[in-house]
Amino acid sequence: MTNKYNIPAIGFGTFDRRDEVGVRVITHALELGYRHLDTAQSYDTERECGEALRRSGLKRSEVFLTTKVTGANCAAGKLIPSLERSAENLGVDAIDLTLIHWPVTPAGRLDMRTYLTELAEAQARGLTRLIGVSNFTIADLDEAKTILGPGRLANHQFERHPFLQNQKLVNYCQYNGISVTCYLPLARGRCAGDPVIDRIAARHGATPHQIALAFSLNQGLIVIPTSSKHERIAENFAARDIVLSPDELAALAGCDRAERQINPAWSPAWDQQPAMN
Ligand SMILES: NC(=O)c1ccc[n+]([C@@H]2O[C@H](COP(=O)([O-])OP(=O)(O)OC[C@H]3O[C@@H](n4cnc5c(N)ncnc54)[C@H](OP(=O)(O)O)[C@@H]3O)[C@@H](O)[C@H]2O)c1
Repeated sequence: MTNKYNIPAIGFGTFDRRDEVGVRVITHALELGYRHLDTAQSYDTERECGEALRRSGLKRSEVFLTTKVTGANCAAGKLIPSLERSAENLGVDAIDLTLIHWPVTPAGRLDMRTYLTELAEAQARGLTRLIGVSNFTIADLDEAKTILGPGRLANHQFERHPFLQNQKLVNYCQYNGISVTCYLPLARGRCAGDPVIDRIAARHGATPHQIALAFSLNQGLIVIPTSSKHERIAENFAARDIVLSPDELAALAGCDRAERQINPAWSPAWDQQPAMN
């Protein structure tokens, strides 16, 4: 499945993929076939992504690049210069997708009108082709729609895996034409040992982590797993070929236990799942 923005459905997450070791791992992912890299100003891996892109020999147009604007750069007058630095770090003229990393910081909520207006201006100037957000609640997305108008946000990135399905947020995004990127799609490597996932994996001759990725991919969502290990990078990429039946998707939907892993004290609470309303 694909999305209307042609964002490659499997991206390679680059949190912690720093320095020369990181460049080699990212280059390996590109050589294996990944065509989407997920970085952020706060990860300090934009340079590594740019270097891997050059080493891979791929054309710029063949690899989709996402970065995220950190809270400090959401203050008035800071976003556009920060994005110019991101483009320079990546060694590109324009970024494919720029997200606001969080609507809050430990110091409190950021001024949405300020950062979204500047993000839209960055897009108008051609610094970024698409714009989006990350870690927004439905109320935040509604506020963004009021500020920008409908249809402007191309993507929302938030935590999603079989144990935290965030289905209410997924449904909202799909209804509003916002593509969804699932971060922590492997639940940080904790998907083995669940009887439902293990049973479906055995039926497909796949691993539990491949089934976790296939679960979101089969619903038209984007996933950005990462690994430091070559064999796992290949294993995760191969999940794109797994087709799950409606019964299997229904069984996996039953694995949700609202098990959130990225949960800083200052973070907004996720919207409740439909079943919990
Ligand atoms: N927007 C946001 O706020 C936000 C927050 C968090 C993350 N992200 C993005 O999401 C990406 C992915 O998140 P993440 O790295 O935290 O979580 P993840 O991709 O769910 O899990 C990565 C962990 O799983 C292990 N792993 C990878 N493949 C595996 C496999 N096939 N079998 C078993 N274990 C496997 C890895 O260990 P090994 O390295 O040992 O293989 C690593 O510890 C990040 O790199 C980043 O780009 C975004």
